[in-house]
Amino acid sequence: MRDVDIRFGDFDAVRGATLDIAAGEFVCLLGPSGCGKSTLLNAVAGFVTPAGGEVTCGNAPVTGPDVSRGVVFQSAEALFPWLSVRQNVSFGPRMRRMPKAQRAAVEDRYLAMVGLSHSADKFPSQLSGGMRQRAQLARVLANEPSVVLMDEPFGALDAQTRLVMQVELDRIWRDTGATILFVTHDIGEAILLSDRIVTMTAGPAAAIKNVYPCDLPRPRDLTDPASAALFRQLREDIGEEVARTLRAQGLDDGHDGRSTGDQKGAGR
Ligand SMILES: Nc1ncnc2c1ncn2[C@@H]1O[C@H](COP(=O)(O)OP(=O)(O)OP(=O)(O)O)[C@@H](O)[C@H]1O
Ligand SMILES: [Mg+2]
Repeated sequence: MRDVDIRFGDFDAVRGATLDIAAGEFVCLLGPSGCGKSTLLNAVAGFVTPAGGEVTCGNAPVTGPDVSRGVVFQSAEALFPWLSVRQNVSFGPRMRRMPKAQRAAVEDRYLAMVGLSHSADKFPSQLSGGMRQRAQLARVLANEPSVVLMDEPFGALDAQTRLVMQVELDRIWRDTGATILFVTHDIGEAILLSDRIVTMTAGPAAAIKNVYPCDLPRPRDLTDPASAALFRQLREDIGEEVARTLRAQGLDDGHDGRSTGDQKGAGR
């Protein structure tokens, strides 16, 4: 994205965002609630049209949604409740008129990849939260997108399931070679998964604040000293923005941002 401005009516949501993401890279967008992470991701998805600047994917301008840019939402309501898991996964290939035999192979491959082979005939209402997110991911992957956009996909999951999903996503990312843009509030999650972590300033007129390379050996361990140091750095970076937001809302309680990790911490 180059010099991207996004407005909603007369509200200036994002101003001048420039970010290059390499093919196959895993990039996390991290920032305080309401800063514009989803808005930027939606611009890459093609759901939101920038008022200025441009978003390109490969060499083509993004002018709307496309199966080559799959989106995994936070809410598992994105699954079709009247279709089984297998039928949900099969939906994209079916729309593209993929022959049945080939489609079955695609279904099997991605159901296995996300660990849902044994639940293929269940319906979304019969799945746990973690299983629903796996099903959503399989449905997106079945379109073999070059870019996967994930907006807090594990935000609604319990801590244990979340950890399992992070490990699985790391593996799936390597298996597919997809480029991933991943939005999260969770600094630890960003460190576990990313090649680079991008922080944003608090809005309005949010901008890209800093870009942190994250080249620690994988699988990552948040307790190792290098991870812990990066964690502290990110916590300060985001804490500053949370404090700025609180000040703007007249809720300043003397925070300097240093002791806050995320939105939850900021209120204390
Ligand atoms: N469709 C819309 N119409 C008007 N304002 C919007 C719209 N979508 C987002 N905004 C505003 O743009 C800003 C950024 O919103 P966005 O959803 O991108 O934040 P976010 O960083 O994803 O927050 P969260 O972490 O809480 O999901 C907010 O002030 C929000 O109110
Ligand atoms: Mg959001």
